[in-house]
Amino acid sequence: MLEQIEDVIEAKARMKMKAAERAIELVEPGMTVGLGSGSTASMWIRLLGERVRDRGLQITAVASSEDTERLGRSYGIPFVAIGKCDRIDLTVDGADEIAPRLALIKGGGGNLLREKIVASASKLFVVVADSSKVVNKLGKFPLPVEVIPMAASLVSCALEELGFTTKLRHRPDGSIYVTDQQNHLLDCTGVTIEDPYQMVSEINAIVGVVEHGIFLDMVNFALIASEDGLIERRV
Ligand code: 5RP
Repeated sequence: MLEQIEDVIEAKARMKMKAAERAIELVEPGMTVGLGSGSTASMWIRLLGERVRDRGLQITAVASSEDTERLGRSYGIPFVAIGKCDRIDLTVDGADEIAPRLALIKGGGGNLLREKIVASASKLFVVVADSSKVVNKLGKFPLPVEVIPMAASLVSCALEELGFTTKLRHRPDGSIYVTDQQNHLLDCTGVTIEDPYQMVSEINAIVGVVEHGIFLDMVNFALIASEDGLIERRV
């Protein structure tokens, strides 16, 4: 049983690397590059870091999370703060679910707000993922909703009126998870999202919501790797 689980994890890691390797070909010298968060994006960041450190590739990076910035800096990648950035040429990031029309759920790692800011400002936004992320409808993966801490309980009630079961995210040590922006996260389950546009407008109407993990009309293309190969999916 343990061996089977290890095999699945290894197979997924191979697929993620396949997508990351293809996405690294998109980087050109002089670009300002948005760095996503999560394990697949991290593989891509390591490949990018090797090119910066060992081959003198000149780029500037913008980080979608503090973890990502730490990883990038460990390779000597130069960063510009989001607040000082005036253009992003390319962003590569992972996803938790990829539905038709390249609608996404993101934020499993807790970084959805910055990820969305970086993605939405990018001329080219590319998703890298293994094929297990592809779904027909969003909603099986818990949808993260970032909330102002004092509003968490009220926002939770409002989300439950939409049919969700909500759970305040905690860290493994039992403390409440605090995002890079000092907010809290509600992980929402129990709703198959039939119409993501409608859901977005309903969630955005709840005061106290800072951002949610549904990404619509942002992705230029997704690089999705399976054991059989790699496909480039466009809308
Ligand atoms: C983090 C994210 C990640 O991109 C998403 O969770 C996918 O992660 P992984 O590549 O590890 O499966 O949105 O907030």
